[in-house]
Amino acid sequence: MRTYSELSGLMLGVQTYQKILRDSVRSGAYQLPDNPMDLERMHSAEATDSRELEGNYHELADRFIQWSDSVHSTTKTRRIEAFNKSIDACIQCHSSRCPGPISSIRKLYLPVSDSAS
Ligand code: HEC
Repeated sequence: MRTYSELSGLMLGVQTYQKILRDSVRSGAYQLPDNPMDLERMHSAEATDSRELEGNYHELADRFIQWSDSVHSTTKTRRIEAFNKSIDACIQCHSSRCPGPISSIRKLYLPVSDSAS
């Protein structure tokens, strides 16, 4: 049976919420669903291998948190851009330490042509 690290569990929740958020942004919803995840936990959660948290990990986590927050705080017309920047941040972090999920993370991107305001 597979056991998940604290960070893996958090990531799976982040990914699930990110899909819900994407669908909501895509549909042009006025009110976006609140993020149930405490993203600050990315800084303290234990990883399977603590080396994954070295180098620029915390900086990249902050970048992700900022873009993710800005999806909620920006104007409706800029949400798609902010959302896609948050996905860039996922991939930036993953490409240097945990490349496995990258292809599924890429599928989260919203097509920019959807941005009819
Ligand atoms: C700052 C770095 C960082 C960012 C940003 C980040 N991740 Fe991760 N992610 C990790 C690390 C490190 C792991 C490995 C955790 C472990 O093995 O303990 C991971 C694991 C995962 C996993 C695998 C969970 C599992 O064990 O099956 C998924 C899926 C995932 N991340 C998706 C995402 C998505 C989607 C985003 C953006 C919405 C994201 N990640 C943003 C660092 C990051």
